[in-house]
Amino acid sequence: MYKRRSFVFGLGVLVGAGASIITEKIKQPMADMWQKIEVARRDFTVVGEQPLRERAQAKGLIYGAASSYQELAKNVDLANRFAAECGILVPVNSMKWQELRPGPKTFDFNQGDWLAKFASERGMQLRGHTLIWHKALPDWFEANVNKQNAEQVMLEHIATVAGHYAGKMQSWDVVNEAIFPANGRSDGLRRTPWLEFLGPEYIDLAFQAAAQADPQALLVYNDHRLDYDTPEMEGRRVAVLKLLEGLKSRKTPVQALGIQGHLFANEMPFKPKKLRQFLSDVASLGLKIMITELDVTDRMLPGDIAVRDRLVAGVYQDYLDVVLDEPAVIGVLNWGLSDRYTWIAGVRPRDDGMAVRPLPLDQDFQRKLAWQAIARAFDNAPSR
Ligand code: XIL
Repeated sequence: MYKRRSFVFGLGVLVGAGASIITEKIKQPMADMWQKIEVARRDFTVVGEQPLRERAQAKGLIYGAASSYQELAKNVDLANRFAAECGILVPVNSMKWQELRPGPKTFDFNQGDWLAKFASERGMQLRGHTLIWHKALPDWFEANVNKQNAEQVMLEHIATVAGHYAGKMQSWDVVNEAIFPANGRSDGLRRTPWLEFLGPEYIDLAFQAAAQADPQALLVYNDHRLDYDTPEMEGRRVAVLKLLEGLKSRKTPVQALGIQGHLFANEMPFKPKKLRQFLSDVASLGLKIMITELDVTDRMLPGDIAVRDRLVAGVYQDYLDVVLDEPAVIGVLNWGLSDRYTWIAGVRPRDDGMAVRPLPLDQDFQRKLAWQAIARAFDNAPSR
């Protein structure tokens, strides 16, 4: 009896002393195991072979993806797969200032026009990205743009570029990523050259100019890091809503919110309720919503491809189930269609050096579980 008690006591001391180490050691593998079980029991079966564009269209939605002139012009297989799956194309870089504006007075539409023609010949719509952004500004910008001429430079750019593609664009990202509460302003606006030169009204001015140049395109405010239940992203959602409310109250012609949707597997807490509420808050302003740059960073997932693809597909499923439940959501676009061409390989690579798998098609343009998750989400979505 004594012996047993002292054994139990001894064990208690041992557990007490090492409790945190032991629980830490058990916690992660347990969490991994539960996640594997949870995802393994998910159903990703899809009925039929129809491409995503048809499944989306059947529900009154648009599906598409981003690709570049360089990718589509040199890879016929990609071009064919792209046209088969996508109802809309958004150029990755060709319509940013850096590519479009060789000099302060010049415009180069070669790549953009090639992509516009490619889209129209293959029966795809076209999306413009992006008229005003703090990134991808050309080298000449800093020395040539100042407080005195910024308004004229901006208005000329929008009139010329949106005017050039007028009638051909389903939508334009008029302003991209203008919110950055970490910059410390009470309105949450990012400190950019445009803000510095023109004040917060630069956003209103940009939308007015775009509406004038292309009255047919849906005019979108596009931003990122709006998806997860973290204090940072909650702050961003609040600031984006405030921005949109202000634009609407001033009758600025913003018509939709673009949510980039760069997702993360196993990195951040996802709360369907929070995202769902945000979407209905945006919708209640009378705005449409598009998911504009969807992909799933897989750097925290195990290397095993079968496991990884299931977990990535699970992220797509969870997200799209919430998003497509909101009737104001009219479209979903991936930032790239195939894992062969993805910016995630550059910005968020895996530590083990294995190729990332964030998109619906694999390196050889074959459909993955992520494709199935998207297809199922469209099939299950309510009609618009
Ligand atoms: C990225 C492109 O994919 C890269 O090729 C480029 O080097 C940098 O920009 N949010 C956006 C897109 O709005 O324009 C970005 O595209 C990805 C993040």
